[in-house]
Amino acid sequence: MKLSHENLKGLMKHKLMRAGLKEDHADKTAEILTWSDERGYHSHGAVRVEYYAERIAKGGITVDPKFEWKETGPCSAVFEGDNGCGYVASVLAIEKAIEMAKTSGIAVVGIRNISHSGSIGYYTEMAAKKNMVAIAFCQPDPMAVPCGGTEPYYGTNPISFAAPTADDRTVVFDMATTVQAWGKILDKRSRHEAIPDTWAVDEKGKPVTDPNLVNALVPIEGAKGYGLMMMVDIFCGVLLGVPFGKHVSSMYHDLSKGRELGQMFIVMDPSRFVGVDAFKASMSQSLDELGEMPAAEGFGKVYYPGERAVMRRDKAYATGGVEIVDEIYEYLKSDDIHFDKYDHKNRFAE
Ligand code: NAI
Repeated sequence: MKLSHENLKGLMKHKLMRAGLKEDHADKTAEILTWSDERGYHSHGAVRVEYYAERIAKGGITVDPKFEWKETGPCSAVFEGDNGCGYVASVLAIEKAIEMAKTSGIAVVGIRNISHSGSIGYYTEMAAKKNMVAIAFCQPDPMAVPCGGTEPYYGTNPISFAAPTADDRTVVFDMATTVQAWGKILDKRSRHEAIPDTWAVDEKGKPVTDPNLVNALVPIEGAKGYGLMMMVDIFCGVLLGVPFGKHVSSMYHDLSKGRELGQMFIVMDPSRFVGVDAFKASMSQSLDELGEMPAAEGFGKVYYPGERAVMRRDKAYATGGVEIVDEIYEYLKSDDIHFDKYDHKNRFAE
């Protein structure tokens, strides 16, 4: 089913409100989920709504959270999330971080005790659109084996950075430190499609192609991805005093409890370094140089991070809208809230 931005966002917002989320929180969440789906990040779009609705309905997301902004120094702060909606907490925290970076040159902002916050590139892009350079990390539940290990210890621990240019391009790099985000497995399951054998392993650590047989995801590039995962966990868990490593709550363990997740934003003002205009001009120059480079065989072009996502969005709307799996569309347009799809399931919602 192909849907317009308004239609897709409206359906998700309606469902989240029906589950109990306040209108402004549902609106912001649906906006970010739509941002992901329209860019082809279906792993972090509508496919998540049924799970969120069950968790909201069961009290595992505080619907009227007491958010608290605590400045711990001229360029550091902790945003207490009260296990409220991760999307809303993240937007408020990055807005505060941007203001702090304007005053102090840099802002290091830790967010404590939130629920899932989706595609973290949305938040770094917000900062880049305000002429800042930003980095974000966040903490999903454990589902990746460390290099050489047999059991999941870290999450898919994503890293995003974003930077403005002197034109309408924005660099938005946004990746899981596993070969694939867990949501990509979910997406493949919902489409009844196989996965490549490089994405995940079964209980014996052997590569699998059936998304239903996945026991754990694997880090990108072995020890290097493992090191990046650890870095994310140090910034978002150990440093912020929330559960870390294998102690991070499972998405599907107990939907009546808050997730207590950590997240970190680092926002820098280029005016404190090379200057905003010089920074943006050099960024545009880099992207021009990259884009003009002859492409290797099998590649159409050298893209900058985020370029293909924007192309996917533009193509979707030029060809009738964002493609949403029929089953998900049927769920979204129904009035149903399911109470037994995800609660007390294993980390793969089984
Ligand atoms: P991906 O593999 O689709 O893309 C990773 C990055 O590579 C993107 O920035 C993309 O722009 C860039 N890229 C891809 N192909 C490129 C090319 N040919 N040239 C230049 N750049 C290219 O992303 P992934 O790892 O599947 O993550 C998807 C989403 O999942 C992200 O939005 C991430 O934030 C989100 N996520 C969120 C989690 C959470 O707990 N909140 C956990 C894990 C992932």
